[in-house]
Amino acid sequence: MGSPLGLSKAALALSFQTVIFLSLPSSVYARPSPGWPMVINTWGGPFVNATDAAYEALLRRDVSALDAVEIGCTVCEENQCDGSVGFGGSPDENCETTLDAMIMDGVTMKSGAVAGLRRIKNAIGVARAVLEYTSHTLLAGDLATQFAIDNGFQEENLTTDATLARCATWREGNNCQPNYRQNVSPDASAGCGPYTPLALDSSSPDYFGLIAPDAAQASHDTISLMAIDAAGIMAAGTSTNGASFKVPGRVGDGPITGSGSYVDGDVGACGATGDGDIMMRFLPCYQAVENLRRGMNPEEAAYDAVLRMVRKYPAVASGIVVVDKDGEHGAAASGWGGTFTYAFRGGLMNATNVVGVPNICVPDSLKTQP
Ligand SMILES: *[C@@H]1O[C@H](CO)[C@@H](O)[C@H](O)[C@H]1NC(C)=O
Ligand SMILES: *[C@@H]1O[C@H](CO)[C@@H](O)[C@H](O)[C@H]1NC(C)=O
Ligand SMILES: *[C@@H]1O[C@H](CO)[C@@H](O)[C@H](O)[C@H]1NC(C)=O
Repeated sequence: MGSPLGLSKAALALSFQTVIFLSLPSSVYARPSPGWPMVINTWGGPFVNATDAAYEALLRRDVSALDAVEIGCTVCEENQCDGSVGFGGSPDENCETTLDAMIMDGVTMKSGAVAGLRRIKNAIGVARAVLEYTSHTLLAGDLATQFAIDNGFQEENLTTDATLARCATWREGNNCQPNYRQNVSPDASAGCGPYTPLALDSSSPDYFGLIAPDAAQASHDTISLMAIDAAGIMAAGTSTNGASFKVPGRVGDGPITGSGSYVDGDVGACGATGDGDIMMRFLPCYQAVENLRRGMNPEEAAYDAVLRMVRKYPAVASGIVVVDKDGEHGAAASGWGGTFTYAFRGGLMNATNVVGVPNICVPDSLKTQP
């Protein structure tokens, strides 16, 4: 079988390795573990409040790794970190904020998640309730809201005056740009809907570029946070309000186990942020943890997970943070206008450290997108 580039498998494998060697930012070495307990999460800035809250909680003996993940993500939900977590941010086309969250236990691999959660602020708390009080993994939409209410969460308005103002600017000031519609009439890149679908010819060579254009998407951040308690037990989780001006009903990578985050306490954990619509097609956190299992260090594991996405979608914005079960950590990123960052604090560290992660660069020869 020929590869998409017409290279032999061996040649492709060789060039693949060359790229890893040539373009790893500084070294292929992961950063040393600061010791347990430890918290590590996507982004610095306001997200450091989450790192600190989760770490300081873990210093208390009665707080588990799962608790720390929930505590950290809740801080971001309440602080509306970057506008990308919690109420009021990332309104959909109808100006409604909906939340996605997931939390996972590294001992049992049990995860609990909510998607498209409406009118409840503490999405990570509801995800924790799904984990503990159901044998399911994922609840969605209004029925997830009902589950939350039944479990004691309060129904609240997630829309703020700031959300409404932003939404009005998008619709009236910006002619509904940017948006996530494609192959519709009228042209979504030129105006607002309602849109009707255009007929597509799936036997045409143009079809693939039409359904999966390599376009940069509007940037959207997320908190994905991993915790290791003082005994080495691991947990991970993600909370986000998704992508601004998404099509109503859209769910991103956040609540998808193996995409937004993933943990196997025997091996390590991963947290992700970026263009969730693209990332969830690759399960990058599942990939990164499996890379650890197969012998890569955390930096290599993250790099490989990012490279798999970049080869198909060179413009994808992604940030992958990986920590192994000992607390060694690393990250890789692609496609950010600025610099991706992650935060960690562990052992006896008296403050959180923020690490900048440059975008990887991939030569044109490895891009398979037409
Ligand atoms: C971080 O936490 C501090 C103390 O609780 C608070 O004053 C500050 O507003 C928080 N920062 C952000 C960006 O939310
Ligand atoms: C929610 O809050 C927004 C902004 O203050 C307001 O316009 C809207 O009417 C509220 N929705 C409900 C159902 O109360
Ligand atoms: C934190 O630790 C560093 C080095 O261990 C030390 O220089 C610094 O003074 C400490 N800061 C605080 C606020 O304790």
